[in-house]
Amino acid sequence: MSKADVLLGLQWGDEGKGKIVDVLAPRYDVVARFQGGPNAGHTLEFDGIKHVLHQIPSGIFRPSTKNVIGNGVVLDPVVFRKEIEALARYNLNLQENLFISKKATLIVPTHRLLDQAYESAKGEAKIGSTLRGIGPAYQDKIGRQGLRVGDILLPDFSDRFRRITEHHFAILERYPIAYDWVKLKEEFLSAVEFLSQFNLAETEYLINAELQRGKTVLAEGAQGALLDIDFGSYPYVTSSNTITAGACTGLGLAPRHIGEVYGIFKAYCTRVGGGPFPTELFNEEGEQIRRQGNEYGSTTGRPRRCGWLDLPALKYSIMINGVTQLYMMKADVLSVFPMLKVCTHYRLDDGTETDVMPYNLAYGKVTPVYRELKGWNVSLSSLSNGKSLPAELENYIRFIEEHLGLPVVLVSTGPDRTQTFYRHEQAASLHG
Ligand code: GDP
Ligand code: IMO
Ligand code: MG
Repeated sequence: MSKADVLLGLQWGDEGKGKIVDVLAPRYDVVARFQGGPNAGHTLEFDGIKHVLHQIPSGIFRPSTKNVIGNGVVLDPVVFRKEIEALARYNLNLQENLFISKKATLIVPTHRLLDQAYESAKGEAKIGSTLRGIGPAYQDKIGRQGLRVGDILLPDFSDRFRRITEHHFAILERYPIAYDWVKLKEEFLSAVEFLSQFNLAETEYLINAELQRGKTVLAEGAQGALLDIDFGSYPYVTSSNTITAGACTGLGLAPRHIGEVYGIFKAYCTRVGGGPFPTELFNEEGEQIRRQGNEYGSTTGRPRRCGWLDLPALKYSIMINGVTQLYMMKADVLSVFPMLKVCTHYRLDDGTETDVMPYNLAYGKVTPVYRELKGWNVSLSSLSNGKSLPAELENYIRFIEEHLGLPVVLVSTGPDRTQTFYRHEQAASLHG
């Protein structure tokens, strides 16, 4: 029996997971999403094409890879339909290559309305949700009143849909939210009909059978470890377990069947939405990162908050996820800086220094303690595998490796598939 590898973000999302899943996918028989939903925006670039996926796994452009939307996902049929329609021009064999868990939770239109209502009621303290209905859908799942994908095949689905939405309407009465229910309902039911034509399956059987046959499986995380519902900067988090453990519950994978854990991080940090961000930059340097990195949300278009690399946060994410290899993304973005800063510790209010994530990060103030490193300050655009990295970039990476105790196996230097640099020969041949 083979093991499933897991790929996930170690920061606040948007680390470049989509790009790397697409790069690795030819090595995998199955790529599976295990949590999150349309809040995710995973960007893939190849052959001059740029495509953003929200719920569909990032292995979809590889013809021999099966793609699974697992039971841990919250699926919006309306978004699903739009995504499938946007993929139509690529002639992909979706009937054969895409499988959706019957146990995945459905996002109904009132979940989106509730998300909006709860967020506006929070005022200044709002989470900065993507307003895709994620939190309310997971609430219903945990509250044991959610609808699941498999329910759409049941004869009484419309009754079930009516009951849950009536329950939501009763809540919505307390909030000043305007909506056109006739339109939303029609759009939803027609999308449900569309969804019913796809492979709805008990994907835990599919995945375990593939592993049993010695096939390879890659679990694709959404969001990032610091947005995890348990370990992220609560309450400024998403509503699912974004960490390796989430791949077990979100796909029906036993922990002993997990193999490698690829931890993806940007060479700096970004965050979109509210919540603590110790190394955030409010100056021209932050602007420069945003400009160079085109740091605007893939799902919402919001400008991302930008800052220097945060090693205590990465250490924490590595610990919680059991990361075995690090992949560093967007190194090219830092090429503009003659000097770089890396946060090695936090200074707390009482003056002590720590590399542990403080419990009250969301409420107290921590001051990052930085180490300055010389930047490489040259374009990385002509870099190719086999060539050596600029010495300062090599130093930057070694500094990170020493602090984190793990190898940085891959360095990404641009959004395209081909702009991917392996630091170890072995890894390069492994990943083709
Ligand atoms: P994901 O949510 O983790 O898949 O990441 P997103 O797609 O939301 O955001 C990452 C953004 O950075 C996308 O626009 C990618 O095309 C882009 N990107 C990925 N890797 C690199 C890189 O190495 N350099 C640059 N400049 N852009 C990258
Ligand atoms: P990918 O998979 C970055 C953030 C939102 C908000 C918080 C809660 O593309 O990395 P939610 O809609 O889940 O209730 O929002 O989480 N967030 C993300 N930030 N990348 C994502 O996904 C995100 N998904 C949610 O901005 O702060
Ligand atoms: Mg994203």
